Amino acid sequence: MSVNSGESKKNVKKTPNDFIFGKVIGEGSYSTVYLAKEVDSSTEYAIKVLEKRHIMRERKTQYVMREKEVLMKLNHPFFIRLFFTFQDTDRLYFVLSYARRGELLDYIHKLSSFDEPCSRWYTAEIIAALDYLHTKGIIHRDLKPENILLNDEMHIQITDFGSAKILKDTKEEEEAPVSGRTNSFVGTAQYVSPEILTSKKAYYSSDLWALGCIVYQLMSGLPPFRGGHEYQIFQKITKLEYEFPDGFNVVAQDLVEKLLVLNPEQRLGCEEMGGFEKLKLHPFYEGIDFDHIHEQKPPPLVPFLPATSTNPENIWSSYRAGFDDARMVEIITQTVITDDERKKRLEEQQQNSKYHKFVEGNLILKQGLVDKRKGLFARKRMLLLTEGPHLYYVDPANQVLKGQIPWSEELRPEAKNFKTFFVHTPNRTYYLEDRESRSQDWVAKISEAWQQYYGNKNKK
Ligand code: ADE
Repeated sequence: MSVNSGESKKNVKKTPNDFIFGKVIGEGSYSTVYLAKEVDSSTEYAIKVLEKRHIMRERKTQYVMREKEVLMKLNHPFFIRLFFTFQDTDRLYFVLSYARRGELLDYIHKLSSFDEPCSRWYTAEIIAALDYLHTKGIIHRDLKPENILLNDEMHIQITDFGSAKILKDTKEEEEAPVSGRTNSFVGTAQYVSPEILTSKKAYYSSDLWALGCIVYQLMSGLPPFRGGHEYQIFQKITKLEYEFPDGFNVVAQDLVEKLLVLNPEQRLGCEEMGGFEKLKLHPFYEGIDFDHIHEQKPPPLVPFLPATSTNPENIWSSYRAGFDDARMVEIITQTVITDDERKKRLEEQQQNSKYHKFVEGNLILKQGLVDKRKGLFARKRMLLLTEGPHLYYVDPANQVLKGQIPWSEELRPEAKNFKTFFVHTPNRTYYLEDRESRSQDWVAKISEAWQQYYGNKNKK
């Protein structure tokens, strides 16, 4: 790079022509985020593009200004960085660091829940980040797994400061933070703190409430306050109505109970309770070096398979019944159904099976009751493998179709032990427990269907 170009670049505003815009990597109500490459440097960025007309029409100007102001104040490895801003007649552009690994939420969905070392690690990174943010006088107010992105090294990059509140000028940084108040409701139903709902005031410790929700979610698979409607969730939050599922780690439970406290001045980590130093000393974080965590390698993200009453053993933990497994090949018996036989079986199914109405006219190849697990939570489902292929699951008590496991060539079943089997898909691993302890039968049948529909594809 020439000295000249370096000098001239310094003061010249970028324009959209300095970047090649690629795919959309994020979409909000007021913005679209694109993956983009700077032409000169080939550096990848995430560029947030906002339509001026839309922002003005919806009266969101102050949120956009706020976001820029906050991002400009931040300089910490656990936050998305704002590199440049520019505009043209119609749009505003924020050039941000690109968090290549996407949202933490996607990993929660993919793995159902995290094991203890991963939950400890990622919530510790959030604590280190919040400690910094609050020192800068900023409350995030919308902390949630969608807003926690991951970079190439799998460290967190917190984003989305459209709801943030700046409580004090950074010049006052040395002063003890005050419990500030503000009066506009923001946030997402499941992570919003009770004080924001009832008094419409946000405190620094409103972010600690969200942290409590995230600790609970990483460890168990679901956030603590759930409901069909926002209103139900709000009711539960203001009444502190939530439960820990069986098998929830007791040390993590103690931490969550100290964070999910209705009074914002009594949450572990807030000024009144001894600040972040006290929070970092909680036994859940034993062994974490908060000061150097950004320089250390995060533990690999592995799914947590709880040893529950229905899943007592991991005796085949080293056994993998994948397609390349010689044993699997033995088991798979390619049963070809003739057209006549299909017709006969379908007629019979139509007359006798109460599950026929859920399978879109497809022939059921195997059915059985399973526990469909999400972290520590399990639901009883009738699993239906059909031609197509499809894997439907139905709530047997209410006779309601709850969904399908999406089939693709990448789908892969795996027996974990007698009871438990996984169905791996690109976006999610489904954890299923066969009530009859015949997980291997499921794996064999699903593999057979895979062979039938995808196995011969490459040979043709
Ligand atoms: N989605 C929204 N913002 C993003 C960013 N900075 N990096 C990656 N994905 C994003």
